[in-house]
Amino acid sequence: MSRELDQASYLRRRYRGSQAIIDRRERKIVGQFLKRLGPQIGGVLDAPSGVGRFTAQLRRIATERLVCGDLWGETLQALRRAEHHDGMAIETKEVDLYRTLPFARGEFDLVFNFRFFHHIRSAEQRNHVAAELARVTSRYLIVSYYATSSIHAWQKRIWRRKGHVRSLPMIPLSEFHQLFVRQGMRVVEDRSVLPLLHAHHIVLFERQLGW
Ligand SMILES: C[S@@+](CC[C@H](N)C(=O)[O-])C[C@H]1O[C@@H](n2cnc3c(N)ncnc32)[C@H](O)[C@@H]1O
Repeated sequence: MSRELDQASYLRRRYRGSQAIIDRRERKIVGQFLKRLGPQIGGVLDAPSGVGRFTAQLRRIATERLVCGDLWGETLQALRRAEHHDGMAIETKEVDLYRTLPFARGEFDLVFNFRFFHHIRSAEQRNHVAAELARVTSRYLIVSYYATSSIHAWQKRIWRRKGHVRSLPMIPLSEFHQLFVRQGMRVVEDRSVLPLLHAHHIVLFERQLGW
């Protein structure tokens, strides 16, 4: 019999050792970005939500709705099972980010897309995902990606020596920003999770006036 996916034990396993440092840095930067947006944001979409690593932080500012979307129903079930909260109930939805999202234009005040772009291997899919995320937000977007950097190229060589064979796609910072600028968004801030040591970046975008 297969065991049910459990949110707490999954997150403990996934974010241990050096990953725990990265997890803490990511949560800290996300917290700082959310603080910039003000105490109340309205409707928020987290996609892909996974098992809900950021649900607690997003719930604090989502005053109208918090929708958690993921391709994999089992992660959403784990997220629902872990919900023992007096605050606003989350909505969960199976979504495929490579297709048209089942939401209206501007349906959310904030769209949050974390640790997804570095899995996308084609420019066409990157364009599609950026366009869909920008379509369904009326105002803010928080998106993370792996930025190309010479330091990380060096890190990748070390990884290869240690037996990691499959490298994750990285994209130059300006090229990543352009994906969203073309969709009417402007960069408010781009932060490296661990400057010089890790390729992961988190960007806060806001819709440009007139779009
Ligand atoms: C690395 S996890 C990130 C989860 C969460 N954002 C976080 O940072 O903890 C990537 C998630 O993407 C989901 N996923 C993979 N392909 C997807 C797709 N085409 N559409 C939506 N979600 C997808 C996986 O099920 C997984 O939960």
